[in-house]
Amino acid sequence: MSGLTIREVRLSDAARLAEIYSHYVLNTAVSFEYEAPSAAEFESRIAKVTAKFPYLVCEKDGAAVGYAYAGEYLPRKAYSWSAASSIYVHKDFRRQGIGTMLYAELQKRLREMGIVDLVAGSAYTDDEDEYLTHGSYDFHTKMGFSECARFRGIGKKFGRWYDLVRLQKKL
Ligand SMILES: CC(C)(COP(=O)(O)OP(=O)(O)OC[C@H]1O[C@@H](n2cnc3c(N)ncnc32)[C@H](O)[C@@H]1OP(=O)(O)O)[C@@H](O)C(=O)NCCC(=O)NCCS
Repeated sequence: MSGLTIREVRLSDAARLAEIYSHYVLNTAVSFEYEAPSAAEFESRIAKVTAKFPYLVCEKDGAAVGYAYAGEYLPRKAYSWSAASSIYVHKDFRRQGIGTMLYAELQKRLREMGIVDLVAGSAYTDDEDEYLTHGSYDFHTKMGFSECARFRGIGKKFGRWYDLVRLQKKL
């Protein structure tokens, strides 16, 4: 797709990224948050991530249309070579290769940092409903992740219980 560029996040992206994310918080079970974070909260989350990990934005024609970042998987020292990833693409720009581009660059940067394992968390339900599809799970398996753990019915949102699947990729 033309007109797409990947760049590092800026604090000034906070409002737009919060807007992208809020759709998923308010209308889907993709995120287990109940309340959409404000732009100020998003800005402080960006600052926290970028102190140590890559945080990337995809722009199309000058507007942010998706973002991906990594974070610590677990705090114990022996996990220092692993990271957790998150990715959100604006609802109107999905299935255009943006997620693939963001993950490719994120993984490249993590490899350069010496990270060897990437772990993603995907909300899951056996029976897709109006709040959750298998999109995230299918995207991650397409990106080379494999399921390594499944917590049954561990998250409750919109009055329904959802699984959390952990997927791992060796970088
Ligand atoms: C999951 C997500 C990041 C994928 O980003 P994207 O830009 O839509 O993905 P891409 O266009 O790069 O898709 C690459 C491949 O992944 C797979 N894929 C992506 N979305 C899919 C879906 N909804 N259903 C099935 N497969 C899917 C396909 O194989 C796709 O290739 P194809 O379009 O040629 O068939 C995006 O849909 C999104 O933001 N979803 C909501 C938030 C979310 O679930 N985030 C992950 C939780 S951390």
